[in-house]
Amino acid sequence: DAIIYIKNNIDSTLTFRRSCREGICGSCAMNIDGLNTLACLKAIEEVKGDVKIYPLPHMPVVKDLVPDLKHIYAQLASIKPWLQTQSPAPSRERLQSPEDRAKLDGLYECILCFCCSTSCPSYWWNGDRYLGPSILLQAYRWIVDSRDEMTGERLDNLEDPFRLYRCHTIMNCTKACPKGLNPAKAIAEIKKLMVQRR
Ligand code: FES
Repeated sequence: DAIIYIKNNIDSTLTFRRSCREGICGSCAMNIDGLNTLACLKAIEEVKGDVKIYPLPHMPVVKDLVPDLKHIYAQLASIKPWLQTQSPAPSRERLQSPEDRAKLDGLYECILCFCCSTSCPSYWWNGDRYLGPSILLQAYRWIVDSRDEMTGERLDNLEDPFRLYRCHTIMNCTKACPKGLNPAKAIAEIKKLMVQRR
């Protein structure tokens, strides 16, 4: 509301992204009062006095509060975030047991706002090669999906000193996530699977 007020009444050139206004689209992620969060979920009452607002840290800026997300979207595409199968398609949907479906809880809710990746020092320093928490959480979401048949290939794709292993469990990602998810745990689970398959 405050940023829209500024745009409408004080400086119409102020540029920022927003769409859903309810923490679902992930567009309005920015750094408010020192923390990465979704502007639409951050209540004005939560900040005391003057507040500084910046674009998401360590990202190229297109304009004002709009970060350039080209690179991180390319990283997302690199983990193939869709169901991959080899067996012939069934006549109806691919079924999943309630237990297998429950494994996706805490993962499928990610809205790709990138609050986590842009709060991660490892991603700041190695973002050219390290995939970062948001993309690795997405990767794990497909690795644990019981319907996916490319688990081995997905792990092969991450078996690399930079793409996965630059996570040093700093945990800023988990602290920053405005959806209350735990990317650090997802990354730890991927590392565990790497060990198990050796
Ligand atoms: Fe969609 Fe904030 S406007 S998450």
